[in-house]
Amino acid sequence: MPYRGLLAHYGPLLDLPAHTRPVTLLEGNTPLIPAVSLARQLGGGFELYIKYEGLNPTGSFKDRGMTAAISEALGRGVTTVICASTGNTAASAAAYAARAGMKSIVLIPQGKVAAGKLAGAIAYGAQVIQIDGSFDDALTMVVEISRKHPISLVNSINPYRIEGQKTAAFEICDGLEQAPDWLCLPVGNAGNITAYWAGFKQYNNLKWSGLPHILGVQAAGAAPLVLGHPVEHPETVATAIRIGKPARGEQALEAAEESAGRIIAVSDEEIVAMQKLLARLEGIWVEPASAAGLAGLAHEIAAGKFDARGRRIVAICTGHGLKDPEIVTQGMDKPKIVAPQLQALEEVILG
Ligand code: F0G
Repeated sequence: MPYRGLLAHYGPLLDLPAHTRPVTLLEGNTPLIPAVSLARQLGGGFELYIKYEGLNPTGSFKDRGMTAAISEALGRGVTTVICASTGNTAASAAAYAARAGMKSIVLIPQGKVAAGKLAGAIAYGAQVIQIDGSFDDALTMVVEISRKHPISLVNSINPYRIEGQKTAAFEICDGLEQAPDWLCLPVGNAGNITAYWAGFKQYNNLKWSGLPHILGVQAAGAAPLVLGHPVEHPETVATAIRIGKPARGEQALEAAEESAGRIIAVSDEEIVAMQKLLARLEGIWVEPASAAGLAGLAHEIAAGKFDARGRRIVAICTGHGLKDPEIVTQGMDKPKIVAPQLQALEEVILG
């Protein structure tokens, strides 16, 4: 049977109301790519897989949650949706709203959204509003306005977002024919870690047995769950997770504790170094935030706090590298310009 999207594939496992009317871009079904060279580089002796969520229709994992949230909203007769976003949720909400014939409004922190995400939101026809503040400020505002007006909220506070995002855990178990030993992923507003843990728990004993330990990774400049208190002015190169008051922070901490895992922080340097390593060793280019899970794994192995031997580890790479091209091109040496003559080319290549 041809693939018909997440609601068609996993619908019976998702807690969605009967009025739900599927809106899909055939999201999900993303590859689980073995990363043999990277595993060797990190010390070897374990299996490493990349769940490449950047290959979803709008370039991030948000599409899993958005197909569910927009489908539910459409069935309820909603005509306008709103979200606060560091960029990926905005692009995804805009695309699914467009497909459903709805209006979308997205609030983004001024000057802190990567080019590929902003361009996406505009291309899909969203009303884009910059807030002279942080993501956390924008989230507070969309919660308030959606209470006051007939505008539906599609941030991950919306429970249907979590239902949709559980499907990534199902896919991983189906791909491996069991749960992995560890799951590493970036944590921002903490919707995704909440969804994975819910998905793994639901699938345990339903189809395959076992639960992974969860390693959630924040950027050091935006690590409220590691510090134990909100961060007023979060700052990180990984703008997707530049969040100081995660909406589902409690649930993220629960997921880490229940799974006998943990939430840690890594530096921007570690994130950018891992982004580069992954691209160069495996041919997988992800946006900075998406490298945080792997950077956390590398950090723990290097610190001797993680016995990877014999383990099967899955790292979630949440968004495509094309979302944030500037992080690579800014400050780089411009490619050499060569006259259109063979000899000139030979000089450059052969020296
Ligand atoms: N990775 C990427 C690429 C993201 O865009 C996000 C969140 C995360 C990881 C963290 O996921 O929030 O569920 O813990 N981006 C949101 C947005 C905040 O607005 O696009 P989370």
